[in-house]
Amino acid sequence: MHPAHVFAAPTHTDPYPYYAALVAGPALVFAPELGVWIAARADVVAEVLGNPCCKVRPVAEPVPPAIVGTVAGTLFGQWLRMQDGSAHTGPKRALQRALAAVPVPQVQETTRACAMDVVHAAPHGLLVDMLQHWTHVLPCTVVARLLGFDKEVAAQLVGWMADFVACVSPLSTPAQLAQASCAGQALRDTVRAAVLAASPSADNLLYGVLREAAAVGWDDIEAICANLVGLLSQTFDATAGLVGNSIVALRRQPGRVEMLHASPAQWAAWVQELSRHDPPVQNTRRYVAEPTTVAGIALQPGDTIVVVLAAASRDPAVHARPHAFDIGRTPDPIYGFGTGAHACPGQAWAYAIVATALQELLQRQPHLATAPLAWRYRPSLNGRIPQFFTPTEEAA
Ligand code: HEM
Repeated sequence: MHPAHVFAAPTHTDPYPYYAALVAGPALVFAPELGVWIAARADVVAEVLGNPCCKVRPVAEPVPPAIVGTVAGTLFGQWLRMQDGSAHTGPKRALQRALAAVPVPQVQETTRACAMDVVHAAPHGLLVDMLQHWTHVLPCTVVARLLGFDKEVAAQLVGWMADFVACVSPLSTPAQLAQASCAGQALRDTVRAAVLAASPSADNLLYGVLREAAAVGWDDIEAICANLVGLLSQTFDATAGLVGNSIVALRRQPGRVEMLHASPAQWAAWVQELSRHDPPVQNTRRYVAEPTTVAGIALQPGDTIVVVLAAASRDPAVHARPHAFDIGRTPDPIYGFGTGAHACPGQAWAYAIVATALQELLQRQPHLATAPLAWRYRPSLNGRIPQFFTPTEEAA
């Protein structure tokens, strides 16, 4: 059965037949029960994400009302992800250059080193506890370490980030929002202290961002700190979802672990195809700021468009046999990292972290593909992030 609507799809067992129906339907469809337009076809998704009248936030609401006036709200309001126009262009270039300057082998090496620490820190015994660490703690720890934080501070940052990400969800409770703001303050203060103490001789991402920020004339230290926190936050959920969805896929592809074990060079292509086939970020939104047209349909200021990235990556107009998992296909286009001005600058990092993390995990858990394991998707309107549990817990 199809999910009830587009926001129920990310956590549905199999949203892909529903997405295929959206792709086969009208170019842009209005969902009256949600009050939003839905774009799912690859060409329309690219058109919306490339349309300068379609903004990342509603004009009258730069910060979600639930977090206005809190530290979390201040951070959110400074993130590039939430800016358009000139406030976005230069700083985005700085982040892109700083991330691209870190060689992929360094990201892989750091992931291997962090995997050793994370496995020691994970509670003993239970596979599901280990997977929780592997999906949620490891990727964010890698980014914290590459920013230049030592092990202890990196562990603190990741703990605070776990609390913080709850705040940006429209599903958060007031108690979660309060906890998130405390975490946001700790994150901001720790990052700000590191920025103020940064030395030009440091060879790390934090200093790389400061150097590239200076090169583009981005001198707002508070905004830079917010965006350094933003790098951790962008990593946390999305990369957890990519690791988690990979584990689910490995269990559904008999013999795949053995094949990848025999040809480790294929991990990169496998993770890329997974990010097309079952991506962790399933949709994003755009808010119409000025009268415009999309797919020939007139839209007005105040209109909201749900851009279904996961459907576009399976549009038969861009990928033959789109529902097949095929590591031999030409990977692009993959819409799960966005396109246009706000395209994810962390895509190469995400692939390097996830492919390395999975190899390390399988060395420690060679029977992962067959071990007793169940999962459900964490409540979310746009993320597809499995939470694993031992099958007997279902009954509890
Ligand atoms: C599997 C992992 C990841 C996925 C699926 C993902 C996905 C995305 C998507 C879909 C967007 C664009 C959203 C939109 O246009 O509305 C985005 C933006 C962004 N991502 Fe990622 N991301 C991932 C990992 C990362 C990592 C590891 C980093 C950095 C270390 C990162 C940094 C960013 C930043 C800074 C933006 C904002 C860019 C802008 O607004 O110009 N992401 N990501």
